[in-house]
Amino acid sequence: AAHSVITIDGPAASGKSSIARLVAQRLGRTYVNTGNMYRAVTWAVLQAGVDPQDADAVRAFATGMVLESPVVDGKTQVCISGRTPTDADLNSDPVNRAVSFVARVDEVRNRLVADQRALAATGPLVMEGRDIGSVVFPDSPNKIYIDASEEVRASRRGAQGHADQIAERDRIDKQRKNSPLVIPAGATVIDNSHITLDQAVEQVIAALHLA
Ligand code: C5P
Repeated sequence: AAHSVITIDGPAASGKSSIARLVAQRLGRTYVNTGNMYRAVTWAVLQAGVDPQDADAVRAFATGMVLESPVVDGKTQVCISGRTPTDADLNSDPVNRAVSFVARVDEVRNRLVADQRALAATGPLVMEGRDIGSVVFPDSPNKIYIDASEEVRASRRGAQGHADQIAERDRIDKQRKNSPLVIPAGATVIDNSHITLDQAVEQVIAALHLA
């Protein structure tokens, strides 16, 4: 039987990746960053010269891609048609600008969601993204939604792009038809605008119902 997955969703630059990675470490679970899966597909789309805003072309590309998610040092890597993009590739400006368009395409989501569900059979996970508690594992007993104020998110933007790009990504992610960013039913909402990373990790752990 599949292990139950701790789901962590939230908007861009909310701090959810740092929190999710530490929660996974604390609990000895594998950490899955699904944003990196969408970023890897976007990177491959751009490498192939496909227009990320051309949904038909992205759909055709996604049909032919081969995805693997090997676990390295407690977290999954993304290998796409035999190539593993670096962190710099995944967080590059062109990928930041294109990823929300690629992530709107049904075929892309179907492929990645199937992979995400298959990963749950391999062991206990902490999985982070936009639709993990709402769509990928709606029956999870452990759903977290991480939020932070606009000001704090803008100041944390770091490698994730400029504040206006982040706002644009959130707008597209919240308004799309397929699996928009929402607070999942039954999720515990943790706003980490004014607490430390360690405090946020503690609040997540305190909210879990683990057997
Ligand atoms: O988490 P991160 O900001 O790296 O995600 C990059 C983009 O990937 C998001 O803005 C969103 O468009 C897409 N994404 C998604 N569903 C997920 C995770 C990420 O649509 N579960």
